[in-house]
Amino acid sequence: MAETKTLLRALAGETLPIPPIWMMRQAGRFLPEYRATRAQAGDFLSLCYNSELAAEVTLQPIRRYGFDAAIVFADILLLPQALGMDLWFETGEGPRLSTITTAADLAALKPADAIHDHLAPIYETVRILSRALPRETALIGFAGAPWTVASYMIAGRGTPDQGPAHALKSTDRALFEGIIDLLTEATVEYLSMQVQAGAEVVKLFDSWAGTLQGADFADFSLAPMQKITAALKSRHPGLPVIVFPRGAGPRFAGSHAATGADCIAIDDGVSAEWAAANVQTGGCVQGNLASYHMVTGGDALIAETRRVRDAFAKGPHIFNLGHGITPDADPDNVQRMIDTVREG
Ligand code: CP3
Repeated sequence: MAETKTLLRALAGETLPIPPIWMMRQAGRFLPEYRATRAQAGDFLSLCYNSELAAEVTLQPIRRYGFDAAIVFADILLLPQALGMDLWFETGEGPRLSTITTAADLAALKPADAIHDHLAPIYETVRILSRALPRETALIGFAGAPWTVASYMIAGRGTPDQGPAHALKSTDRALFEGIIDLLTEATVEYLSMQVQAGAEVVKLFDSWAGTLQGADFADFSLAPMQKITAALKSRHPGLPVIVFPRGAGPRFAGSHAATGADCIAIDDGVSAEWAAANVQTGGCVQGNLASYHMVTGGDALIAETRRVRDAFAKGPHIFNLGHGITPDADPDNVQRMIDTVREG
């Protein structure tokens, strides 16, 4: 039977007349229905671990907008929590974790295959979604890439420049590499279970890849993502993988080959025209409308949406923002973006 999910067709390398669309953070605070369900759950982490409500918020943007893909509602920091770290969210500030700064801290974590009891509610969310989604909507599972997750585990919080993780990388290379290796292995376990539960595509978020300089970019962003991609594809033949080395700039070129991924997600730090000429030549790309258009709207939103769509029209493309939609976005601007992409 011909594939009915446009997202899977684009990931298989097909150039479509209208690209599939979804948005990073499409289930989020810009939607009043998300805020209501989060209040019902109590707080953000309780929402992540409540499979029924997590499935509900995943479905909300699908019902409202008819996106071509749903992304399971969870967070990249649930994995370090499953490995035994403390995790909490400070209102208005962001995530806080216990820290890993010594070999003893690393040794106290659980082994990679001991995460599944803790993460069972996420697998259940995936199972609910694979039953509930419309047949044309693809289901994306995800995890953070090792470097980005390690940067939170080492600092114990988000940082503007990932300074503590860069410092550990130079003062205790063995410990730093031990953290990356454990995360690489645990991420394979985590994503493999999401696939078994019904995820049809997986995405790795390397949100802080851009701060890795010189050989570090290949060693700690691309190489771990390549290992995870290869291990998942050997366990699940044909599984499409999207990787997002955010902030890579000119280093986006060649990243299909360097990671083995089917699709490279591109932020708005490079132009769509440049990415079409230098990245889309290697396979499917996703992106890259600047998120602020969802706040500012107007004629610029329409013009820029058309520009991104048209720049990528000659090859496989998944329309998306360059990064997550922000809480101050206007839900009507999202509809305008979708209507513009689909105007043909
Ligand atoms: O895209 C989706 O709709 C799926 C769900 C999803 C969330 N986080 C939900 C979330 C995904 C894919 C993520 C990934 C994630 N989480 C990343 C990588 C992508 C990126 O944005 O760069 C990172 C770095 C995190 C860690 C994280 N989670 C931070 C730094 C924060 C606080 C910042 C903020 O936006 O408030 C979160 C919280 C978070 N994760 C929210 C959501 C919807 C907001 C929480 C709330 O409802 O209060």
